[in-house]
Amino acid sequence: MEPAPSHADPSPPPRHVAIIMDGNGRWAKARGLPRSAGHKRGAERVRRTVEAARELGIAYLTLYAFSSENWKRPLGEVTDLMGLLRLYLRNEIAHLNKNGVRLRVIGDRGRLGRDIISLIDHAESATGGNTALTLNLALSYGGRHELVEAARLLAAEVAAGRMEPADIDEAAVAARLYTAGMPDPDLVIRTSGEKRISNFLLWQSAYAELVFLDVLWPEFGREHLEAAVQDFHRRERRYGASAG
Ligand code: IPE
Ligand code: IPE
Ligand code: MG
Repeated sequence: MEPAPSHADPSPPPRHVAIIMDGNGRWAKARGLPRSAGHKRGAERVRRTVEAARELGIAYLTLYAFSSENWKRPLGEVTDLMGLLRLYLRNEIAHLNKNGVRLRVIGDRGRLGRDIISLIDHAESATGGNTALTLNLALSYGGRHELVEAARLLAAEVAAGRMEPADIDEAAVAARLYTAGMPDPDLVIRTSGEKRISNFLLWQSAYAELVFLDVLWPEFGREHLEAAVQDFHRRERRYGASAG
């Protein structure tokens, strides 16, 4: 299925949009609800966001769902989040296929439960032929860990005599990241009003435009994605060159 570009905006959409989905806990707290209620509502927002991204003609959407640091949260909260992840991986495949969405998981799989790893393998292969949108779910993801892993892979190749240290260039590093073969994010959005990156796509977002929104993730909707894309279109990307 081909992506349907928005007719409202003549400029091409960003190819890759990445979102730090933050604020579930604060959303719940403001309503006197347990944090788990915020996470549940947050997980429900993902479907609409994927649909909106596809309709805007975005080719890659990366969602930060669980960071390598989130393992430090109380066991009950981690269990709730893993439960929501299981539900998503089980129940969303039909919807992803209907919308032409290919699911990929990026992050340190070794720390995830064995049943979750097999649900991921199944979801990735069941959606692997879809071409309208690639959805990267960042799970147990940390940008520093990703770079450490890439360094280890390169060191092993040098130690095995397959590579010289001088062969290590930017392309060699990029090819060993979870995102190998994908374009870098053009636009990184963070909800909840926090203005930090929290170990997300450190290498890949070197030249991304950053948009910080005051909305909490459980309230995020199409209008917020559209507003962030419009903000992106107003920016002038220079990549180090002088102003044109
Ligand atoms: C984002 O919401 C979800 C995850 C990080 C897993 P938070 O749980 O961080 O919500 P706040 O930041 O406490 O409001
Ligand atoms: C970042 O949010 C991670 C995710 C959204 C999955 P956090 O809430 O964990 O980040 P900090 O602790 O505010 O930096
Ligand atoms: Mg948070």
